[in-house]
Amino acid sequence: MTRRRIISLVFLSIVLIPITAILYQRLISALSSLGQASIVRMASTTANPPPPVIVVGAGLAGLSAAYSALEAGAPSVRLLERAPKPGGNSIKASSGINGAPTRFQNAAKYGVDESFWDDTVRSAGTRLRGADVSEKAKTHRQGLISILTDRSASAIDFLVDLGVDLSVVAQLGGHSKPRTHRGGGKTPPGAAIVTTLLNKLKEKEGQFELITNAEVTKLLTEQSGSTQRVIGVEYQTTTTDSSSTTASTPQTLHGPVVFTTGGFGGDTHGLLAKYRPDLAGLPSTNDPRPGAHGILSAVGARLVDMDSVQVHPTGFVDPSSPGARVKFLAAEMLRGEGGILLHAGKRFVNEMETRDRVSEAIMGLPPAAEEEGGLKQWDVQILLDPGACDAAAGHIGFYLWKGLMQKKKVKELDETTRQTLREYAAVVKGEAKDPLGRAAFGHWKLGVSITGQEEEEAEVCVGRVTPIVHFTMGGAVFNEKAQVLASEIGEEEKPIPGVWAAGEITGGIHGDNRLGGSSLLECVVFGRIAGQQAAKAVVEGKA
Ligand code: FAD
Ligand code: SIN
Repeated sequence: MTRRRIISLVFLSIVLIPITAILYQRLISALSSLGQASIVRMASTTANPPPPVIVVGAGLAGLSAAYSALEAGAPSVRLLERAPKPGGNSIKASSGINGAPTRFQNAAKYGVDESFWDDTVRSAGTRLRGADVSEKAKTHRQGLISILTDRSASAIDFLVDLGVDLSVVAQLGGHSKPRTHRGGGKTPPGAAIVTTLLNKLKEKEGQFELITNAEVTKLLTEQSGSTQRVIGVEYQTTTTDSSSTTASTPQTLHGPVVFTTGGFGGDTHGLLAKYRPDLAGLPSTNDPRPGAHGILSAVGARLVDMDSVQVHPTGFVDPSSPGARVKFLAAEMLRGEGGILLHAGKRFVNEMETRDRVSEAIMGLPPAAEEEGGLKQWDVQILLDPGACDAAAGHIGFYLWKGLMQKKKVKELDETTRQTLREYAAVVKGEAKDPLGRAAFGHWKLGVSITGQEEEEAEVCVGRVTPIVHFTMGGAVFNEKAQVLASEIGEEEKPIPGVWAAGEITGGIHGDNRLGGSSLLECVVFGRIAGQQAAKAVVEGKA
């Protein structure tokens, strides 16, 4: 081997080979990092996009949940609604939504409102304070009541900030202060709130989708360790033409579920007949529709208070169709603004008592002579003086137009009724104590500031009313995070992963009697919580 060849071999082994090795290594590492990058990119293009939050039922609870889920960072929300239009019973709400303390309440006149919790607890009655109620069950219910009442002022702010007018405040039965908020115009509070939320959601184009005529038939689950987890829904859409309704084949949708399907007051032959067969003969404010509670029970949810069904004392008996099963409600606000109840011209109850007591008092009277439309009804009059009529003008105009109320001059009334009005005016003026215990008189003026000939010529608004099935206090057991529980109220909590609930479908808050105005409130308070919690599950990759 020549000396030159030896030098070149040494050069090759000492310099070139390592350099080549280094270059090769760099190439490998560059390639592999390129490979990694492309794997990452592939992963980001092929991994499942985050699931939507699925909301079932487009009443106020569902709309509040949908809106709040998007606000809390959920990339998208699908809202499935069985009916052709959204709104549920929420859109019919007529008296308003509770909140305390709020800027709209008259603190100068009534003091700062700190009694909402106490009033709600009192109204819950034996379900909360009964001797058979365990300490843990009591604590659970009180916890829910605290959330409801503590967050009521922020629920009002939430709606007002969205543009809903809630500036008028009335006192309803069982409330110790005026705290039920509605708007000053003619649009009833349920319709005002529902349409505002829907419009806000429609602005969230690309993120929000409402699918109507879509009935959820079951919750999809997977086994996760020893527990069952909800991972989505199965639903069917229906199309209707002039001659028939066709249901699609079942479709599935995956994501965390917020269940807001409302109560079972309209499920006359189903859940209502099962839990309260004695109410079958009463009319209802609820359109006939089956309750969806069985869908939750099928995944292990427990139900509570199912036999606590609210009978509202005042459904209008329309003179043109007295036997109609579904009736218009004579909003409780009519009594709050000053209306009184009469039987054969005489008052018989403190109209500002809780609904269960007022209904009980009416149902203790002899029923109407005839069973109209096969229904059990009573013959009670609601009467508003000019002061109360003015304060409730937005509603009264509609009731007069529908023929549910009539205007009459005081001089046209029978003598028993006129005598009742004189005695009542003395109570309102503070000259006598009400033997029935009424202490809040709304805007009543007749015989007080309207007197003499003016009183004779004054017009009162009168309509016939009867007790009516209205609201179901019972429903799915749930907790302060709106998680649906597979445990009884008061037992160690067993949340069912992947499903939350809000609104009338839930149970365990109101007990024996729900206060007027607290259902819209629970829809907003717990709907917001449920939406936020479901969004959190998506954002944290736990859905
Ligand atoms: P809803 O508003 O009833 O909505 C539930 C929705 O779920 C419905 O649209 C239904 O079609 C849908 N749904 C059901 N099952 C399925 C399914 N399987 N798949 C898909 N969708 C489904 N409360 C107050 O606080 N203040 C008031 O002034 C007041 N006034 C009232 C007046 C009337 C005439 C009535 C009837 C009720 C009133 N209430 C009031 C009570 C209150 O309106 C309701 O309790 C509340 O609105 C219920 O809201 P929600 O969202 O839980 O249910
Ligand atoms: C009503 O207007 O009387 C109904 C109010 C309610 O159900 O809360």
